Amino acid sequence: MSRLIINGGNRICGEVRIGGAKNSVLPILAATVLNGGINIIHDIPKLLDVYIMERILTSLGCSVKRENRTIVVDSGQLVNYVIPEELVREMRSSVIFLGAMLSRCGKVKASYPGGCEIGSRPIDLHLKSLREMGAEIEEKHGFLYCEAKKLRGCDIQLDFPSVGATENIMLAAVFAEGVTTIRNAAKEPEIIDLEKFLNAAGAKILGAGTATVRIEGVERLYNVEHDIIPDRIVAGTYLAAAVITKGEIILKNVIHEYLQPILYKFRESGCTIEYFNHSLRLIAPEEIKAVESVKTLPHPGYPTDMQAQMMAVMSLSDGTTIFTENIFENRYKHANELMRMGANIKIDGRIAVVRGVERLSGATVIAQDLRGGAALVLAGLAAEGTTVVENVRHIDRGYENIHDVLNGLGADIIRQ
Ligand code: EPZ
Repeated sequence: MSRLIINGGNRICGEVRIGGAKNSVLPILAATVLNGGINIIHDIPKLLDVYIMERILTSLGCSVKRENRTIVVDSGQLVNYVIPEELVREMRSSVIFLGAMLSRCGKVKASYPGGCEIGSRPIDLHLKSLREMGAEIEEKHGFLYCEAKKLRGCDIQLDFPSVGATENIMLAAVFAEGVTTIRNAAKEPEIIDLEKFLNAAGAKILGAGTATVRIEGVERLYNVEHDIIPDRIVAGTYLAAAVITKGEIILKNVIHEYLQPILYKFRESGCTIEYFNHSLRLIAPEEIKAVESVKTLPHPGYPTDMQAQMMAVMSLSDGTTIFTENIFENRYKHANELMRMGANIKIDGRIAVVRGVERLSGATVIAQDLRGGAALVLAGLAAEGTTVVENVRHIDRGYENIHDVLNGLGADIIRQ
């Protein structure tokens, strides 16, 4: 397993372009099986999770060509309806293929996606919704056997605004008979990007980004070309790198609207933020002000995928911050590792109380999940001495060459 060796103390200063969003690319790659034709998608990040999706598409019979940051998927000839078990295990969000494959060929077999480092990750809302649309789903021996002669549109009320379930229903509804209405839908920007991709291919979807999404079934989809939206979590992570090191950063290729929940908290901590065109500049304060409360919520609330990074920043603030993780039941694994570096954190269920300390000290720490691993890198940037972050593979799932990007901004990181 690779590790990052970080010599802390350097200010993060400079400019970085933000690439396409992982959590937009993954559902859109699943959606490429729908049109049985050509899908040209630009600004694809070079991430482990994206490579896994490419391998799944190839195993289904698609031709997948990558030309730098563009992927061309030809889904004309599907030869298989089984999602390889080892790939589902490697990346649980491959469950998104259920809706897409039921729409395209009326059947799909996938192993039950297990939980992961941050929680049990149930898919009950996905399965309940697909069954309401007429899918027959058998769960046995750890596999999901799904069939649907013809999916039918219906009204679906989600108990929780699940991002994945909203996406799965949209993909299942594209060719369904009649109209599907999703109520209490997830409002994340990545849902808007999926709607834009599908409508560009000829789907009839309205309301993505709001709590009610309406999908009118159509006969077929056509060749499509699409630009992926920039990754708001990667953007927030590099902003956090500048804040924790009292630096200054310019991000190119951002959508301010999608970053508002993240920027609001950085402003509260004393940062100066300026916008211009599709860019923004953040100037960190000399002293990080403690933000009183960080509660993770579905968009447009504060994103759970930024909780760990914000915890690293608040570990060096001038006061106390109370975190409430409302989305996942086990998303504080980074706290113990931050405490090894001198952070003062008390965990009680979904609550974490972080009291800012004068300084963090370098230590050997272990990344346990994607965003928690990124948080440890941030802490290492600010810590006195050397920090070694193990299990960098977790971080590679969501960040392209994080060490190269940060070194380009003044960090001192060696990848081993
Ligand atoms: C997506 O996961 C993202 N992943 C996650 O990002 C992100 O943290 C999450 O949305 C919330 O924003 C991708 O888009 C690939 P959910 P997803 O369904 O779809 C419960 C990252 O770091 N739930 O909105 O799995 C679930 O247990 C990753 O990039 C059910 O109970 O999230 C969780 O508590 C991590 N039953 C909550 O809903 C279900 O059927 C949110 O899950 C589905 C979900």
